[in-house]
Amino acid sequence: MKLSRRNLLRAMGATGIASAVAGLPASAAITPKARLEARPGTARLAPAEYEPTPIWGYDGGVPGPTIRVRQGERVDREFLNNLPQASTIHWHGIRIDNAMDGVPELTQAAVPPGGTFDYGFTLPDAGTYWYHPHNRTWEQLARGLYGALIVEEPEAPDVDRDEVLLIDDWRLTETAQIAENFGAMHDWSHGGRIGNWITVNGDGYWTSDARQNHRIRLRLVNPSNARIFNLSLKGLSGWVVALDGQPLSTPQPAETLVLAPAQRVDLIVDVTADAGTEASLVSHERGGSYAVAVFRVGKAEAERRTEGPGPLPANPVPETGPLQNARAVDLVMDGGAMGGMRSAVLNGTDTDIRTLVNQGKAWAFNGQAEMTDTPLLSARTGETVRIRMDNRSRWPHAMHLHGHHFRQVLQEERMGPLRDTLLVQSSETAEIAFVADNPGDWLLHCHMVEHAAAGMMTWLKVSG
Ligand code: C2O
Ligand code: CU
Repeated sequence: MKLSRRNLLRAMGATGIASAVAGLPASAAITPKARLEARPGTARLAPAEYEPTPIWGYDGGVPGPTIRVRQGERVDREFLNNLPQASTIHWHGIRIDNAMDGVPELTQAAVPPGGTFDYGFTLPDAGTYWYHPHNRTWEQLARGLYGALIVEEPEAPDVDRDEVLLIDDWRLTETAQIAENFGAMHDWSHGGRIGNWITVNGDGYWTSDARQNHRIRLRLVNPSNARIFNLSLKGLSGWVVALDGQPLSTPQPAETLVLAPAQRVDLIVDVTADAGTEASLVSHERGGSYAVAVFRVGKAEAERRTEGPGPLPANPVPETGPLQNARAVDLVMDGGAMGGMRSAVLNGTDTDIRTLVNQGKAWAFNGQAEMTDTPLLSARTGETVRIRMDNRSRWPHAMHLHGHHFRQVLQEERMGPLRDTLLVQSSETAEIAFVADNPGDWLLHCHMVEHAAAGMMTWLKVSG
């Protein structure tokens, strides 16, 4: 059948949708919905001598389309799942309506292949956010399903450019195919799926032209499954102005930057390298250092700005009241290779570690290797909540809370910057506090996505 409006309407009539459409004003019936389609595609991740790599991407590309809106505006997208698996979209870091949070079982049913789901929500906070699937994330994220969601401040800071850099870690075979060993228990029980090929915005050699003295806003995002990036700047100098989308009250000098899975860092930097040379973002690994993003520096057009940037305008995130009266809960994080965990609860029964591993579990929160029917904590809307996370494992974990941003409670109850994902080191205890102002069921999990699948996932209930 040829695709025409008339045929389309006839086809819709067959499924009974036509009557619904007929009831709408003509303009509404013909306005196409903005759509975001998850589907297989290809990408040039590796150098030109390789075949393009088959990936899964939003609208078939990696990264998916950058969604840019102004603070207070809405995003409306019909999600169309053209993957061979069920999927959802989670809008990471957005203080969103619970029904739009994209968590299978908890907030919606996973969208089957061929199915759709209408996502629509307003953006209360300006900043750098991103979106990704929340079903079989350890496979779907590794195959390339992610994109940036940028919420602009009402007044943009004074920069010459604004650049989103999604820094991803891929595990590729010798022929630049995505390695298919997604469920490898060795990864799940160790540091997660660590790859062997780094891309920025889907490009293994991301380069761009810049000018000496230009001021650039760099929005760094880590969409990798499990890699923690240690980054520094070369030929660029400037300030960290936001973490996980939320502005710092005072910009901090950008020196070494730790970017754990799912975290974001917003920088405002000046190009200080000489014309004719290169400025770069450098990643430091155990095996050495290499540039992940390169700016070829051209001649200056203007003097370097003498003033540093002021803080970005704060977002309307509520501040916690006195912490003594807060509702508090402990979260003991245990398991993984070289750890002391001997057993944990799975399917409601205490299960020894060997049996756990055979069932794909290797970690536990408070002795539970699975999502429990009852939440870790129930709070009334507006209550201040503190969670003491005690990492007894031998591995760092990037702990992410849905629907809220929190602060780390530091020495003498000083409060750290607002974040949605906090890296908790091995043997570290880190306490977070926040106002539970967003009603619904919210996940708290490790964003090393293999760890989440292997037991590091729980949830909070906010109601009343
Ligand atoms: Cu970025 Cu629960 O996810
Ligand atoms: Cu973890």
